[in-house]
Amino acid sequence: MAETLLSKRAAHLRQQIQYHSYRYHVLSDPSISDKEYDALYNELKKIEIDQPELITPDSPTQRVGGAVSDKFAKVKHPAPILSLANAFNSDDVRAWFERIKKLDERVAKTEFVVEPKIDGLTVVLHYHDGLFVKGATRGDGETGEDITANLKTVKSLPLRIPVQPSFDFAQDKPNHPTTQPPPAIVVRGEAVIFVEDFAELNKRQEAAGEKTYVNPRNTASGALRQLDPKLTATRPISLLCYSVVYQRPEGSEPSGRSSEFKTQWDLLEALKAYGFPVADVIKKFSNIEAAIKYCESWNDKRDTLDYEVDGMVIKINDLVVADELGFVGKDPRGAIAFKFPAREVTTTLNDIGVNVGRTGVLTPFAILEPVEVGGVTVRQATLHNFDYIAEKDIRIGDRVLLKRAGDVIPYVIGPVLNARPKDTKVFKPPKKCPTCGEPVEQAEDEVAYYCINASCPDQLIRNVEHFVGKGGMDMEGLGSKLAEQFVTDKLIADVADIFLITNSQLLTLEGFAE
Ligand code: IVH
Repeated sequence: MAETLLSKRAAHLRQQIQYHSYRYHVLSDPSISDKEYDALYNELKKIEIDQPELITPDSPTQRVGGAVSDKFAKVKHPAPILSLANAFNSDDVRAWFERIKKLDERVAKTEFVVEPKIDGLTVVLHYHDGLFVKGATRGDGETGEDITANLKTVKSLPLRIPVQPSFDFAQDKPNHPTTQPPPAIVVRGEAVIFVEDFAELNKRQEAAGEKTYVNPRNTASGALRQLDPKLTATRPISLLCYSVVYQRPEGSEPSGRSSEFKTQWDLLEALKAYGFPVADVIKKFSNIEAAIKYCESWNDKRDTLDYEVDGMVIKINDLVVADELGFVGKDPRGAIAFKFPAREVTTTLNDIGVNVGRTGVLTPFAILEPVEVGGVTVRQATLHNFDYIAEKDIRIGDRVLLKRAGDVIPYVIGPVLNARPKDTKVFKPPKKCPTCGEPVEQAEDEVAYYCINASCPDQLIRNVEHFVGKGGMDMEGLGSKLAEQFVTDKLIADVADIFLITNSQLLTLEGFAE
């Protein structure tokens, strides 16, 4: 292929890959199969290997191209990365509204935008002429750390904006007009790990005998502070954007306002049109009572969101008014966080139990004095692994801090040391499997302890559950309870035996007899 043709083909592939990646990672609505996507990607990769001069900084192959560094450079933010004042109930919100109404009478007539308060790591993303050039952490609000190479691995982060909705290559132009971003724009968002991706990640860790992660926020934050972007790329980090920190408008000088958008609603619409992922439950209200009601409604439903939130944010829609209201300390007056009650409580750790997993991994769990957290009674919680218990010095009998967040299994944060009773007991990992009594082994280079007895009944039960479950044979009506019955009643000695169970054997089981 002639060089110009090849470079055209590369541009076409980049465009296509960018568009399909956007459909998959931002819209969750792919229009081609993974196989077709891989074919496009591999073709581009091959062209770039043959002709490295055709590689562009926004090429999708460059998401994991960054070099390992020994420390992060500092980045001065173009404007302070502000925080938010908190409201802990609806009266706090009303008091805020009255305060700002007194400062500016236009507030009485303003609309409100309510957004989820995403519990992630704040990131500041710089785009020049549409190209993603730099990404930083919040740091102290004035200066952050340059984590560009790590952020490039985040699949829903656009490497170039606007993401073309689709492109007519025959005519060399987009099929429909796209919203052009200003020549320089700095967008703020939260890097998160979606609850479902986090559960999946921990499942993989467990199966590999590796440490499971404690919570999505810290995992996302830790991964983005890795010095090797290749490691970051292995974590399922996502992004949700909600504000513009700085913008240089086309052909004119900056007005001094944080952005040229007239309203927060327009700003969010523009971010979406450029191709940024934006939270989906954002709504606009014409009065504060309706906004408060909406915030309250999400307190009970917060577990239905894909990501963790610690509240909602109420923002004055009119950004001119919001800007002119200024800020108190680091908190803008034009917005307030409506915090949900924390899902952290203290209770007593009555004992530590040990589960045996499908692969024989032993996992400790907390047996707690039952306690209510956010409307749910919690009796057990995860302790992650034996190292975690030792590192945190968690002892049986301790008062412990417990967290229940999102759909994540409740976990013990650590002991409340100043409430430690005298008679606590240090816990030692078991030397024998708690189910079959066979000796336990610790594999080299792994934190996990294993029961290596292939016929350990608990392992067999977990194996059957896995085999018949959704990711396996998806056998309807065969769940954990029946798996356990098959094993304890000795109807099976390995997974394949489930195909040999006869009708008359089934009829001997409880609940099956006519
Ligand atoms: S607006 C002027 N909106 O919450 C802009 N912040 O506790 C001020 N956060 O530091 C921030 N979701 O990192 C805003 N929808 C949202 C947010 C949000 C999460 C974070 C943000 C901020 C912290 C304040």
